[in-house]
Amino acid sequence: MRLCVIGAGYVGLVTASCFAEMGNRVICVERDSSRLAQLANGRVPIYEPGLEPMLKAHLASGQLSFTGVLAEGLRQAQVVFIAVGTPTGEDGSADLGHVLAVADQLGQTLIAPCLIVDKSTVPVGTAERVGQRINRQLAARGLSFQVTVASNPEFLKEGSAVEDFMRPDRVVLGCDDEDSADQLRRLYAPFLRNHDRVLNMGVRAAEFTKYAANAFLATKISFMNEMAGLCSRLGVDIEDVRRGIGSDRRIGTHFIYAGCGYGGSCFPKDVRALIRAAELEGFEPAILRAVEARNALQKTLLFQSVREHFNGFLQGRVVALWGLSFKPGTDDLREAPSLVLLDALLAAGARVQACDPVACPAMTARYAEALESGQLRLGESPYMAVEGADALVLVTEWKQFRQPDFERVRAAMRMPIIFDGRNIYDPVEIAQLGFLYRGIGRPPAGHCKADAA
Ligand SMILES: NC(=O)c1ccc[n+]([C@@H]2O[C@H](COP(=O)([O-])OP(=O)(O)OC[C@H]3O[C@@H](n4cnc5c(N)ncnc54)[C@H](O)[C@@H]3O)[C@@H](O)[C@H]2O)c1
Repeated sequence: MRLCVIGAGYVGLVTASCFAEMGNRVICVERDSSRLAQLANGRVPIYEPGLEPMLKAHLASGQLSFTGVLAEGLRQAQVVFIAVGTPTGEDGSADLGHVLAVADQLGQTLIAPCLIVDKSTVPVGTAERVGQRINRQLAARGLSFQVTVASNPEFLKEGSAVEDFMRPDRVVLGCDDEDSADQLRRLYAPFLRNHDRVLNMGVRAAEFTKYAANAFLATKISFMNEMAGLCSRLGVDIEDVRRGIGSDRRIGTHFIYAGCGYGGSCFPKDVRALIRAAELEGFEPAILRAVEARNALQKTLLFQSVREHFNGFLQGRVVALWGLSFKPGTDDLREAPSLVLLDALLAAGARVQACDPVACPAMTARYAEALESGQLRLGESPYMAVEGADALVLVTEWKQFRQPDFERVRAAMRMPIIFDGRNIYDPVEIAQLGFLYRGIGRPPAGHCKADAA
């Protein structure tokens, strides 16, 4: 099929490349000229494993191309995907500015019928609004055709987005007519050869399904974080509890890890948007409010622990920070817990030596002043970060931080203490190696060798 994907971000780029991989002819439209220039040269402006080789191959074969001109993207397109951002608006709701702007551009530019598909995460009723907006303008231009808008929410996970798109757990198709559903089923058939995991439903149900999925996953995380808070007061290790409850298949092992809070481009904004949607309906979203409140508290926990450890005095302390991206496998810093910690440490006068395998370049603009003054140092090496440090804080559980050379880490640090924001280390082992250990919802185990002696 001939496809147009509007928006070359995490979702748009993966969608465009994976559809091209299946033999479709895809034109991706992006309005950001510097992003466009990189893409035209085969450079992917985001970090997403497996994406760049696929994109390069299809740019070379001509299956995939990029443009800044919508009319070019729409030429002969049978299906048009909207994959632009829906950030949090001023009142907490999803800001539909980008989506509605695309609708207006489509209304002004389309010259032939096609199926419009919302891939962006949007509140219930948005497809209808988008359709009305486009069709009003088509009518005003004297065109005789109208378009239909379907909802096809995206469930890919940053860090494994290509894999998730190529082998989806499920494909949700929200269509209010059979023709649209048929067309999308045909488009997705090559991704679902072994198992038909297409879930057909109405447009509004599809729009809601995406929010409910993210809100449920965020709820699991906040629930475990709340249990962790209680565990630490009762002298119970949340890791024992996690294993204890995860073995129950009704609960499952995923998304029950206690930690320093969820971030990213989806959970925080989608929970907030759902809360706002409920408020607008006069419905009290008690659980969602608690999920958000717990997460906000959780993001401050590491700073509180570090500050407490130093009796409230952080001026001049050197803190090593391992991991900046909101989760491993991505360079995405949106709403990352690391930023809450970093801002608090800098405000308290600490010097921070942070490292991340891929997210450092994305930090430079935001922290230009601290970098300039030397209060913040960034690098890729975990060993550089711990040089002369008074404390080490693990924020993002990248693989390279799981089994570091602890002897080397301890030798490099001024004071051997580890704050483990993701509970990836064994407290007993860490204590045996001569560190003080502080996890999330775990009783302290042992003291540093120097103290014991
Ligand atoms: N990132 C994820 O993991 C993920 C997963 C599932 C769903 N989603 C949803 O998908 C949507 C997109 O998310 P994202 O993370 O890819 O966003 P993003 O911010 O990374 O990318 C959006 C892109 O759209 C471009 N854009 C905006 N308006 C445009 C226009 N009028 N014409 C052309 N390009 C335009 C922007 O320049 C940007 O490059 C959001 O609704 C998000 O909630 C995201």
